[in-house]
Amino acid sequence: MLSLHEIDAVFEQYYFDGMGAVSRGDAKFLCDLIKEIRPGKCFEVGVASGMSTTFLLKALVKVGPESQLVSVDISRQYYADRTKQVGYVVDAAIPAPRCKYGLHFNHWSADAETFAADGKFDFVFIDAHHSHPWATLDTMLILPFVHSGAWIAVHDIALHKIPRFAKETGPFQIFESFSRPKKSQPKKKSQVENQNIGAFQVIGNHRDYEACLLTSLSQEWTVSGRIKPSFYDRIFEMVDRFYSAPFGTQVRQMIEAHNKKVAAAREGK
Ligand SMILES: C[S@@+](CC[C@H](N)C(=O)[O-])C[C@H]1O[C@@H](n2cnc3c(N)ncnc32)[C@H](O)[C@@H]1O
Repeated sequence: MLSLHEIDAVFEQYYFDGMGAVSRGDAKFLCDLIKEIRPGKCFEVGVASGMSTTFLLKALVKVGPESQLVSVDISRQYYADRTKQVGYVVDAAIPAPRCKYGLHFNHWSADAETFAADGKFDFVFIDAHHSHPWATLDTMLILPFVHSGAWIAVHDIALHKIPRFAKETGPFQIFESFSRPKKSQPKKKSQVENQNIGAFQVIGNHRDYEACLLTSLSQEWTVSGRIKPSFYDRIFEMVDRFYSAPFGTQVRQMIEAHNKKVAAAREGK
């Protein structure tokens, strides 16, 4: 698959400090996982410069021309250099990808349903908003659209260990909580650098994971603002359609309680 030499060549050309991208060890973890599971259809949430997207595409091309990557980002502009468009590294490093690829600005995890209309996903990479509970909400919104046996990789599971990112616990919480009662949960974690990337396999149906999603959601939320109506309306609508009524009620209560807490703090109550 992709050697460290090939990975380094991309880093040498495009990497700069503070770019907010996967490291070379993380890139190797992703490429090795793709080599092992040979996914057909993949979904990526959080593109930024497009470094991770570049590695996913380089790995998928080796799987075959029929493999597909759908990448989404909530923004159009790259946050670390607003003169650049999200995904600019992909355009430079792989101007004509030899597999199916689509990059969609102003989209998020709730749009997985649209992109799965012609088939569910075999592999998902989540690297978007890092404050808790966003990675859990992303996972919850994507789970109904993955095949049983699909793998979900999560980046920045050790980010909160760096003091200035202590509040960025979202990826850690979903990775830790993802388990199946009484059955072994296939999971992998990078063994290099600071072990900042991991992946878990989805076995069964999204509803089988309601308990583990609630375990994660019950950990302290670190997202600073309220969950905006444009997001929570969509979250509630999807949860009502795809998950059980008791689960939907609990998710609704948690989001409403968080928003109340944020409003009260702002009013100095
Ligand atoms: C850490 S960067 C992604 C880095 C990229 N995966 C890489 O390794 O090169 C996070 C990206 O997620 C996007 N983002 C933040 N919240 C999001 C959300 N709810 N849905 C989709 N994208 C989001 C941001 O605009 C940003 O570009």
